[in-house]
Amino acid sequence: MILLTGGCGFIGSAFLIQWLNEVDEPVVNLDLLTYAGNPGNLASVQDDPRYRFVHGDIADSALVSSLLAKYRPRAVLHFAAESHVDRSISGPLAFAQTNVVGTLKLLDAVLTYWKTLDSAAAAAFRFLHVSTDEVYGSLDPDATGFTEEHRYEPNSPYSASKAASDHFVRAYQHTYSLPTLTTNCSNNYGPRQFPEKLIPLMIHNALHSKPLPVYGDGQQIRDWLHVDDHCRALRVVLDTGRIGETYNIGGRSERSNMAVVKAICQNLDILRPRAGGQPHASLITHVKDRPGHDRRYAIDDSKISGELGWHPSIVFEEGIRQTIQWYLDHEDWVQSVDSGAYRRWAQKHYSAPAESVARAVA
Ligand code: NAD
Ligand code: TYD
Repeated sequence: MILLTGGCGFIGSAFLIQWLNEVDEPVVNLDLLTYAGNPGNLASVQDDPRYRFVHGDIADSALVSSLLAKYRPRAVLHFAAESHVDRSISGPLAFAQTNVVGTLKLLDAVLTYWKTLDSAAAAAFRFLHVSTDEVYGSLDPDATGFTEEHRYEPNSPYSASKAASDHFVRAYQHTYSLPTLTTNCSNNYGPRQFPEKLIPLMIHNALHSKPLPVYGDGQQIRDWLHVDDHCRALRVVLDTGRIGETYNIGGRSERSNMAVVKAICQNLDILRPRAGGQPHASLITHVKDRPGHDRRYAIDDSKISGELGWHPSIVFEEGIRQTIQWYLDHEDWVQSVDSGAYRRWAQKHYSAPAESVARAVA
């Protein structure tokens, strides 16, 4: 049994679906169902007897401790976070609460549980912390990609909160010998991403003939990683990563934001031409830049590829085409997110106190 946090979000749900398809091991998913947590992301596995959902907060120590005691997982994979940079600029405190305090409380509950394990189980146990390349700050145009030794220089409240969480994970390994692993990945894309992030937002707006808001000059560069490649990398790190180490995970697909938006437009021109025949690119609108906007992120994946044999397998041009097709094929999902219907559903179904919900699903 493994325990996941944040499994109703974009990456956590992709991980869970891949896990249940490819690994025959039960999984418990602890998720608070914030605006970014959508139980509909897991509709395809909700009736799988190997899957348990628990509605609750990683910062609820009593709940987390009771789950650990009850399910006795051999690993905890920590995805739960506030994850959107723009939201962190308008409201940083929620990021400190979940990403820093929440991670610390989770670590503490896991440490207490880990100390109860017999020596074989304690040695086999892993706490895998999912983090971001944004902790390293912004790269110059001709600099080589971020290695694991790159200095931490977080520039946004989001990346600062993730950096703090990485440091706590490191400290729990160093001080208490908790067997931790940390991954720092680049920008993910793929199905079920909340349409506030660049790629789903642009697809969504283009389909509704709304402006495509490109921040500043659009020449900021990100290293796009398909979410399924990322999830495979996490499994490799969980299985074979060295305790206490960090591994950077990237897509070997550096693209400027403008290049990404144009690729989306070109694909949609073929897959879903506009009624009047105008190209989708005519919707591109340059808007005010994000404050403190990092110019470039890129990953040097030599460590994970050399040591663990993982490398990305999905080339961006094919991955983006498949991703756009997924959004075209799942307009019901998009509509439910757009209208907030999934939020109303979640509020109705999960309004009971977390522990009673935990008991109800057990
Ligand atoms: P997301 O915003 O889509 O999902 C986050 C999930 O965490 C949601 O289901 C939400 O309900 C849950 N959650 C939030 N606060 C919680 C709390 N206090 N207790 C329990 N659950 C809570 O995020 P994502 O894009 O899936 O990202 C997952 C992880 O990967 C995050 O840690 C993020 O920092 C990291 N990451 C994401 C990207 C990316 O491109 N999306 C890139 C690098 C790193
Ligand atoms: P985002 O998906 O928010 O990820 P992150 O900020 O974590 O990299 O944004 C990706 C890039 O796209 C980033 O450089 C900001 C830019 N961007 C826009 O130009 N317009 C938008 O509407 C959004 C949401 C992002």
